[in-house]
Amino acid sequence: MLQTRKSDMTVERTPTAFGDLRGWIAALESEDELHRIDTEVDWNIELGTIMRLAQGPGTGKALLFNRIKDYNKPESRCRRIFGSGLNSYRRIAMMLGLPPDTHPRELVKIGRTLLAGSIPPKLVATGPVKENILKGPDVDLYDFPSPHWNRLDGGRYLLTYGGCVTKDPDTGIMNVGIYRGMVAGHDAIPILMWRAQHIGHHFTAWQNGGKSEMPIAVAIGWEPSLGFCAGSPVAKGVCEYDVMGAIRGAPVELLKCETVDLLVPAAAEIVIEGYLGLDPQTYVMEGPFAEFTGYLAGDRSPKPTIRVTCITHRNDPILRGTIEGAMPGSYSENAVCSSIMRAATAWNVLDRAGVPGITDVWCPPVHAGINLLIQMKQSYRGQAKQAANAIWGSSAAHVRYKHITVVDDDIDIHDYAAVDWAIAYRVNAGEDDVIIMPATFGSGLDPSTRRRDRNAHLFGTGKWNRVLIDATMNLDYDPDPDLGGARFPPTVWPEKDDIDKAYARWTELGLGRPKAP
Ligand SMILES: Cc1cc2nc3c(=O)[nH]c(=O)nc-3n(C[C@H](O)[C@H](O)[C@H](O)COP(=O)(O)O)c2cc1C
Repeated sequence: MLQTRKSDMTVERTPTAFGDLRGWIAALESEDELHRIDTEVDWNIELGTIMRLAQGPGTGKALLFNRIKDYNKPESRCRRIFGSGLNSYRRIAMMLGLPPDTHPRELVKIGRTLLAGSIPPKLVATGPVKENILKGPDVDLYDFPSPHWNRLDGGRYLLTYGGCVTKDPDTGIMNVGIYRGMVAGHDAIPILMWRAQHIGHHFTAWQNGGKSEMPIAVAIGWEPSLGFCAGSPVAKGVCEYDVMGAIRGAPVELLKCETVDLLVPAAAEIVIEGYLGLDPQTYVMEGPFAEFTGYLAGDRSPKPTIRVTCITHRNDPILRGTIEGAMPGSYSENAVCSSIMRAATAWNVLDRAGVPGITDVWCPPVHAGINLLIQMKQSYRGQAKQAANAIWGSSAAHVRYKHITVVDDDIDIHDYAAVDWAIAYRVNAGEDDVIIMPATFGSGLDPSTRRRDRNAHLFGTGKWNRVLIDATMNLDYDPDPDLGGARFPPTVWPEKDDIDKAYARWTELGLGRPKAP
């Protein structure tokens, strides 16, 4: 329960370029991190159900489905689906060129500088993604086995882990982000995007320039850093391709699209090119969808829609998808990656704000950064409130960090029991240990937000009443002379000398091998 830091040595990264999705799959297979499914699986509900059940609490393997119902004829355009690549800390460590057993605490520390890394991409003339080029009447999204992932989803979702590439019309800088997209016809994909996201900034900029459409390309299936960076809070004005280059230690090879002025990875499996309609008259019905909260969310409503102008793909392409929505016992890729990157981002916010004494920051993977845990060595009363104010005052708190719990540095924030124990005995609501920050910007996808408070115009993306739980020892209590001036009594945990003596007799007592101290 008390903090033990076996993993505090610094781990060195050996950046690794896997080449493409196939190189990543081969690397996973060599580490026994891949499970191939060669028997037929139905894209309709069954595949999503299997992926959700198989992923477990970060314990399942990556999955390659090799026989999809209706799509396993020799002439089928796309016959395979890969998913669950990054919902394990072992595989995230592999992606980063670290030993697979690297502790998540080290991943967070590395995550703090990861998104600032930069190796610019390299433009190449051609690549495997141009092996097949489909335009005009040849464009048919139903050629791809987009799963109907969950029974209550509004349709089949082709875009669950694709990198949506858009460009700032003023600076020319590209952004790559993940935005869910449903198949709504042979060439139409409505997507869920918010104005506060970088794609939303581009959307507004193209609109302000008087345009009715914005060029967009979606790269599906490449090295793991594509989805990892596209789903991470890379700073505005920084292109995700530069960050991906830094993660893999080599420039990303990009090539030009056929029908839009955008660049995509030359070795991507599939690229969807098109234009996103900016005029609400062109919006198409989308949703609902099993969302990252673990609930059905994002109401069925008209959404900005990609008018597909071209599809390019490799021979025998592999569709990269993911099952969204984490729940106890089943952690999504978004949740596991977010637990690292949202913790790392929050730690950087605290540092920039000058909050002293921060020793660890963590977002448990079951909720993708909604509850933030901060461990600190406090030197004055009010330090936890300073931390919460810094986090909530930052734009990084968009859709994240609804509840913040702050603990002392003897509490291991990677241990649910330790945090719960601290909340049980170090929190006194009558002593200002529980603070509500009402009516802040929040998340409309959160079912605890009333329907009327999901108004994106009023509250950004929905209203949240945020809570700080200060589970640190109250420094405002009088020092107790009977406790040598301490404010809290000692715990019942034995002293080191007594522990050592007890373990020295462990075998003699018939209690098995002595535990590590
Ligand atoms: C699997 C997955 C699905 C996501 N779906 C959406 C979505 O539908 N809409 C959205 O706005 N953000 C979605 N996100 C979150 C964004 O990708 C994330 O906030 C990212 O930082 C956005 O990039 P940007 O900051 O460059 O806009 C998703 C993330 C992941 C990993």
